[in-house]
Amino acid sequence: MVEHLQRYGIIKSKRVADVIETVDRALFVPGGSPAYEDSPMPIGFNVTISAPHMHATCLQLLEKNLQPGMHALDVGSGTGYMTACFARMVGPQGRAIGVEHIPELVALSVKNVEKSAAASLLKDGSLALHVGDGRKGWPEFAPYDAIHVGAAAPDIPQPLIDQLKPGGRLVIPVGKISQELKVVDKNEDGNVTVRTETSVRYVPLTSREAQLRGY
Ligand SMILES: C[S@@+](CC[C@H](N)C(=O)[O-])C[C@H]1O[C@@H](n2cnc3c(N)ncnc32)[C@H](O)[C@@H]1O
Repeated sequence: MVEHLQRYGIIKSKRVADVIETVDRALFVPGGSPAYEDSPMPIGFNVTISAPHMHATCLQLLEKNLQPGMHALDVGSGTGYMTACFARMVGPQGRAIGVEHIPELVALSVKNVEKSAAASLLKDGSLALHVGDGRKGWPEFAPYDAIHVGAAAPDIPQPLIDQLKPGGRLVIPVGKISQELKVVDKNEDGNVTVRTETSVRYVPLTSREAQLRGY
């Protein structure tokens, strides 16, 4: 899978290749699913684990903001896969926080991470997975160097911009039927720029009720 993503130019750096090799996706997909196939897979509750090429794209976009000691927020953490990757990259001196609004998925993500190469980081508290509405971010450990959103928002939620550190980067899919992956950079003066990386297709960032009734 890593070689395939490197061949297609999606994985560009050794750090991203290493973290994808270290955090085994097979521990995060539902039993019996083809773990290394490059497609999203259903995880229940009307959502999916994102495809490996999307995980890799976002890790690559955030790499410079996932240095040891930095703070990272994963909104819509689902299976916990990206939070685990972030935790490995920021290390025990950093913070990797996942926020997911389905309590059963948070419980599942904790079990997944406990089996993974990020288990010790969960145990020591530098990785944490919380139940909450990710549109509000997670102020406790703000400001963040890196924020990743794993579901498509109608607009960029202001609390996520507010919780971004100067020099920080937010990667978020935006849109309804037609969606774009946006890269939001906050410069050292606090000014924000937004650019479009690519077209994407994600499940919506919405309320728990809307998600459970099928949107
Ligand atoms: C495509 S899934 C991706 C999950 C994760 N990145 C992965 O690959 O396992 C999107 C996740 O966002 C969650 N979600 C949607 N709206 C949310 C909200 N307002 N707050 C928190 N989580 C939300 C969904 O429950 C789902 O788990």
